[in-house]
Parts: sequence; C-alpha cells; structure tokens
Amino acid sequence: MRKILVTGGAGYIGSHTCVELLNSGHEVVIFDNFCNSSPVAIERITEITKKPVTHVYGNILDQQAIEETLTKYQCDTVIHFAGLKSVGESTQNPLSYYENNVAGTVKLLQAMAKCNVKNLVFSSSATVYGEPQFLPLTEDHPLSTTNPYGSSKLIIENILRDLYASDESWSITILRYFNPVGAHSSGRIGEDPRGTPNNLMPYVAQVAVGKLEKLTVFGNDYETKDGTGVRDYIHVTDLALGHLRSIEQIGASQCLEINLGTGVGYSVLEIVEAFKAASNKDIPYQFASRRAGDVASCFAAPKLAKDILGWEAKLGIEQMCQDHWNWQYSNPKGYSLN
Ligand code: NAD
Ligand code: UFG
Repeated sequence: MRKILVTGGAGYIGSHTCVELLNSGHEVVIFDNFCNSSPVAIERITEITKKPVTHVYGNILDQQAIEETLTKYQCDTVIHFAGLKSVGESTQNPLSYYENNVAGTVKLLQAMAKCNVKNLVFSSSATVYGEPQFLPLTEDHPLSTTNPYGSSKLIIENILRDLYASDESWSITILRYFNPVGAHSSGRIGEDPRGTPNNLMPYVAQVAVGKLEKLTVFGNDYETKDGTGVRDYIHVTDLALGHLRSIEQIGASQCLEINLGTGVGYSVLEIVEAFKAASNKDIPYQFASRRAGDVASCFAAPKLAKDILGWEAKLGIEQMCQDHWNWQYSNPKGYSLN
C-alpha cells in the first residue's frame, strides 16, 4: 500500500487513476488548483470508490505547499499529472506552458528531493516522438517536437533523465500516453473540456448530443486507409490501470520510458462510425484542409509495457465510444449544473 500525492488528480486522467488506486487499497492525496477541472470530480471519485479522498488546493509552482503536503500526509510516491495540455493554446501562450509545466515540475522535484520522496510516475505524451520516422513507435524512436506543449514534455523528460543520472536513488517512470478517450463505466467521471473541444472524441460526442452542429474532419488526403488521420486511442480506464501497474512496479532504482497505447490505429472516419453505432445518433461531418502540425498516423508499440509492467490495454473501440457516450449523455454540461 502506498501513500500517493497525485498532482492534477481532479483532471481527466488523474480522476480515473485515483479511482483505480483507491480501489486497489492505495491512499491518495490530490494536489490540484482546478485551473482545468472541477472539485465535483473529487466528490465523484469518493462516490464511486466509497473511500475518502484528501484534497489540497494548491499550485505546483508553490514548492513550500508541496513540501508541507508531502510531509503532512507522509507520501512515499508522486504521480504527476498537473500541467497544461492544449497544443493550440501553447503556440499562443508558450510562456505559460513553460512556466506551468516545466518550472512547475522543477518545483515539484525540488520539494520531493527535500522531503526524500523519490518515487515518481510522470505523464508524458506520444507527442515527444514528433513526426514518426517509423511505425509502430517504439520507446527508442528519436525524440523531437513541433509545438511548445510538446517541447515542455520533452524538456521535462530530459530533466528527469538528468536527475536520475545525478542520483540513482530516484525511481522514475515516464509514461508516454497515446490518445486517451472514454470515461469510467459508471458515467460519473469523464472528460469535461472547457469551451469547444480541440480533440476528436469529445468533439464527436458533443455533435452526437446536439451541442455542436457537425464535425470538421481535418484532411482526407493522408496516406492512410481512408485518407483521414490515424491514431492509437486508448480507454482512460486502461490508462489508469497502467498507472496502477507502474506504482506497483516502482521501487528499485530506475528511469524508464514506457508507451501506454493499444498498438492499434483507427482513422477519423472509423471513429465517427464507431461513435454512431455506440450512440445511435447521426454524426454529420465535412472535410476541411489538414490541421497544421498533425501527422498522418501515430500508434504505439505496446510491448515494453507488457514486458515491464505486465500491462496491456483490454478495452476496444466499441467500449471507448460507449463509455464516452454514456458520460456525455448523462452529463451534457460536464460537471457544471449537475
Ligand atoms: P486535465 O487538464 O484534465 O488535468 C490536469 C489537471 O492538472 C487539472 O485538474 C488541472 O486543474 C491541474 N493543474 C494544471 N496546472 C496545475 C498547477 N500549476 N498546479 C496544480 N494543478 C494544476 O488533463 P489530462 O487530460 O487529465 O492530462 C493529465 C496529464 O497527462 C497532463 O500532464 C497532460 O499533458 C498529459 N497528457 C494528456 C493527454 C491527453 O490527450 N489527455 C495525452 C498525453 C499526455
Ligand atoms: N481531428 C479532426 N477534427 C477535429 C479534431 C481532430 O479531424 O475536430 C483529427 C485530427 O486531425 C487527428 C485525429 O482527429 O487526425 C486526432 O486528433 P486529436 O486532436 O484528438 O488528437 P492528436 O493526436 O492531435 O493529439 C493528442 C493530444 C496531444 C498529444 C497527442 C499525442 O491532444 O496533446 O494526442 O499523445 F500530444
């Protein structure tokens, strides 16, 4: 049993991970400033798990607050989700991404070092692979980025590798997520994007529920099965279980990079069809030109996760769409006014 500080634990992936950690008997302390989430998510975590959740309202830039929290709750491990994640916004406001993501992580690491808490699981992204030079993407694929959000993730990865090289008493697991979608099977927690969604599945879900008129498909001239972009969508509950396995594996001196994906790629049009089937709703769409910075195809080689963590994704595209729809349908306004 571990006592885990979960930064960003009220967010989309963090809330699902807290559910799986609590269900497996771990204790969690959520450290979040709700800059992109709602306190209602924390109430729902308790509702699902029937376990108490400690929450500290704080910013990861506040090193002292992190130190006080680690000490007060005697945490032995940190899962670090807190960060800003919009690619488009990062190109408009890069400094807030470098401050929040990079400087915030440095503050967190300094607090951890001071409190001698040296077990860390970090949320990285497949975005650190840049334009794929080969597929599927293995962890040793060269790293590069095309936007400030991606750069912030790659800088943090490099900081973690440097930190480990300087002090091998750290145990660091860098998880590179592919495209998280879906929601908890209860329909009580899920992704609650502010404003119009940038990502495909939440956009499609809002078209299905009637909040948005139609989907714009960015590009139908890629060299893919039907000309639209291909991605490795992974159910957020599978992703959460990947964190649970990482926590249970962590301990020895290590600094690992591990993909969390399914290894299977679906096109935009395949997602539209799967979501139509799950929701029984029409999803009107129109084609438009490619979105700047998008790659044609991106999917994981998931073998290392299986070898090291004994983890593999179990839930298929039907379940991803079904659970995403269930959440969207029963919470059309997300966490507000419910
Ligand atoms: P999210 O925005 O739902 O969750 C992030 C949480 O961190 C939010 O609750 C937010 O309030 C909190 N937060 C942000 N800055 C903070 C700060 N300075 N101090 C305290 N709390 C802060 O995002 P998510 O989808 O759950 O993503 C979690 C992590 O996974 C992020 O680091 C993200 O970059 C990474 N990631 C996400 C995806 C994805 O597609 N969702 C893909 C790859 C990697
Ligand atoms: N797409 C559309 N229309 C939309 C939104 C997306 O056609 O309205 C297409 C995109 O062009 C792409 C696919 O749907 O082909 C998936 O797009 P997303 O925006 O859902 O996801 P991305 O793969 O572009 O990016 C996501 C996260 C990034 C992360 C990356 C790799 O948003 O933060 O996965 O992990 F870096």
